[in-house]
Amino acid sequence: MSRIVYVNGEYLPEEEATVSVFDRGFLFADGVYEVTSVLGGKLIDFDGHFQRLKRSLAELDMPAPAAMDDLLEIHRELVARNEIEDGLVYLQVTRGAPADRDFAYPGEDVAPTLVLFTQSKPGLADSPAARAGIKVISIDDIRWGRRDIKTVQLLYPSMGKMMAKKAGADDAWMVEDGFVTEGTSNNAYIVKGKKIITRNLGNEILHGITRAAVLRFAREAQMEVEERPFTIEEAKGADEAFFTSASAFVMPVVSIDGVMLGDGTPGQLTKRLREIYLDESRKTAS
Ligand code: PDD
Repeated sequence: MSRIVYVNGEYLPEEEATVSVFDRGFLFADGVYEVTSVLGGKLIDFDGHFQRLKRSLAELDMPAPAAMDDLLEIHRELVARNEIEDGLVYLQVTRGAPADRDFAYPGEDVAPTLVLFTQSKPGLADSPAARAGIKVISIDDIRWGRRDIKTVQLLYPSMGKMMAKKAGADDAWMVEDGFVTEGTSNNAYIVKGKKIITRNLGNEILHGITRAAVLRFAREAQMEVEERPFTIEEAKGADEAFFTSASAFVMPVVSIDGVMLGDGTPGQLTKRLREIYLDESRKTAS
């Protein structure tokens, strides 16, 4: 069965789904995106992703696609048509395809491009990586200054993943002025004693939807949370570490730059938080 993809109002087999070579997403990375996970055929935290998409569009003065009100329905339709049990829905909006390449934004006559597709990932919530924990390296954060907007400018995060692979690790945490900003595609946390520490929100990091939910659940479970920057050195001396994202949920980190954390296995608090997150978010999945 060919995957069904949504492009500008149409559900098409992936071979027939195309966008223009003049699309500003392609030429200027002038686009924003969201990734929503699917567990048991249901969307996890759709509303959070929808609200952040609206914010990303507003921050860039990008027109919302006409189908904005129908986004939940389109997500559900794609999950059903592609028979996704566990996996994710990727959504991208760009500033559309004007007649020529021009740095200036096009006028209102150019409609935004809206594309959605699914990726099937059977057993997404039960990944071997979550059982063993993953290794990260630290790299300089050389991205632009508006990381709170979820744009498709992902070249440096891709380079970071490759640097990690080359170093025999799984992912990279980015460091600016000595402080960890975030992972290549996730938010970073350390645990000291029973306290969860993660960078406070600002333009330096993406405001993770999983982050917001995890911190809420942690506080509800009477866990102590401190939102402040931490250095990579502090992270190497932490009792536990983990990261969060829509596709990895709560993912244990067991080594940083080759320095093993604790006994080199996922920490107790991290494992508990992963369980709580998966249980609670399945309850409200739509
Ligand atoms: N990435 N920080 C960055 C730089 C990210 O790219 C992501 C998500 C996050 C976590 O945000 P959320 O919890 O809302 O997924 C933090 C997605 C999953 C991706 O690019 O595939």
